Amino acid sequence: MSFILATISTLCILISALLMVYGWYTIRVKKNRNRHKAIMITASLFALVFFMIYMTRTVFIGNVMYNGPENFKFAYTVFLTIHIIFATLGAIMGLFSLYLGFTGRFQSHKKVSPYTAIIWFISAATGIAVYLILFIIWPSYHMDTNLWQAIFGH
Ligand code: HEM
Repeated sequence: MSFILATISTLCILISALLMVYGWYTIRVKKNRNRHKAIMITASLFALVFFMIYMTRTVFIGNVMYNGPENFKFAYTVFLTIHIIFATLGAIMGLFSLYLGFTGRFQSHKKVSPYTAIIWFISAATGIAVYLILFIIWPSYHMDTNLWQAIFGH
């Protein structure tokens, strides 16, 4: 169950990151404000679906423990922590960019949003890497645990 939900949510975050790149292109190169708005809203909705699935999984099933080689475990923990920091920052800045866009504060929006898009992209890329480590490279299907243990171990 964890695997199916994680795969769906990772696909959502992949689509969201690709839409983010396309949304940037529509405004930077094409100067198409309406399309930019529509694409960024869609990208945000995919991120929202990701977040809802992630939270459902965390609350009802638990998160998955790292099951790779012991000598890589510390690096993984650092990597996961960086991912969590970027994801939290990306969510906050995403909401802020949407707010600046919707309220027509385009000067500020233009200054802040490139950072939002880059942080969002890094958080998606590191998130996909975490998925690959936990579910594809060193799968640990029967090792569901809670959020705290998934980060810091037993
Ligand atoms: C998470 C959501 C969003 C992100 C990450 C985002 C990202 C960006 C980025 C990176 C730029 C700068 C493009 C450049 O010159 O390099 C930009 C510009 C712009 N965005 Fe967004 N955007 C978002 C949502 C919105 C929304 C909802 C609207 C409209 C309601 C909007 C309207 C605009 C406009 C009009 C510009 C051009 C500003 C100007 O050139 O003066 N954006 N956005």
